[in-house]
Amino acid sequence: MIRVKDVKNIVILTGAGISAESGIDTFRSEGGLWEQHRIEDVATPEAFARNPDLVLRFYDMRRERIQQVIPNAAHFALAELDARWRSEGRHLLIITQNVDDLHERAGAQRLLHMHGEHLKALCQACEVRSDWRGTMIDRPPCPVCGARALRPDVVWFGEMPYHMPEIYAAIRAADLFVSIGTSGAVYPAAGFVRDARGQGAKTLELNLEPSQGSHWFDDARYGPATEVVPEWVEEILG
Ligand code: APR
Repeated sequence: MIRVKDVKNIVILTGAGISAESGIDTFRSEGGLWEQHRIEDVATPEAFARNPDLVLRFYDMRRERIQQVIPNAAHFALAELDARWRSEGRHLLIITQNVDDLHERAGAQRLLHMHGEHLKALCQACEVRSDWRGTMIDRPPCPVCGARALRPDVVWFGEMPYHMPEIYAAIRAADLFVSIGTSGAVYPAAGFVRDARGQGAKTLELNLEPSQGSHWFDDARYGPATEVVPEWVEEILG
């Protein structure tokens, strides 16, 4: 069992499971996104080159969907922990694989989107990122350079995740690594627990069921994120 008073520096990895109860499909559960669509058709640079309309429509639909849902108790609990930890001068970083904005909308401030964000557009001409809430299927002009070359600012399979140097620096300094709502199926995120263990951090998994990496964790609690995450944060905040 992890002793709370020894915890100074927390790194939290979140995945699709933390947003599931807000109504956003996960990827690999029953009927999930990767059962409705093939990854190679909608989530690779090759797919975008081959059939940009299909990819742009897929992301237009998901961008619209996330604007219809709201954060859940798990997002709010992490935001409360972030705020309290910040007020006590302690380090906390949420690394999310999710491309929704529910952590932000719940109030989390120390947050990195390693797989990008639905509500951002990346211009392939000027490489500037712009906030984006509309569609891209009609090839709207880049707000900065005017080129009709926008793509979703989402990291596709085969592309380099964002913020990796910052992420590894945070993991090296963590004394507690918590993984929430992720299947542990996709690297490099799936390997973070081993990096954390390797430098001596305690590791905790909060998930609906054991993930593919569950054997790497010192401790685990299973159940819906809206139950297990607020319970854990309550314990930490005392
Ligand atoms: N509460 C907690 N965990 C849940 C809940 C819930 N209500 N519902 C589902 N889960 C768990 C599932 O048991 C599973 O372990 O969330 C995890 C979701 O796994 P995936 O669907 O694989 O999503 P994720 O791990 O985020 O995928 C990682 O893969 O497709 C890429 O880029 C995409 O960021 C994504 C990455």
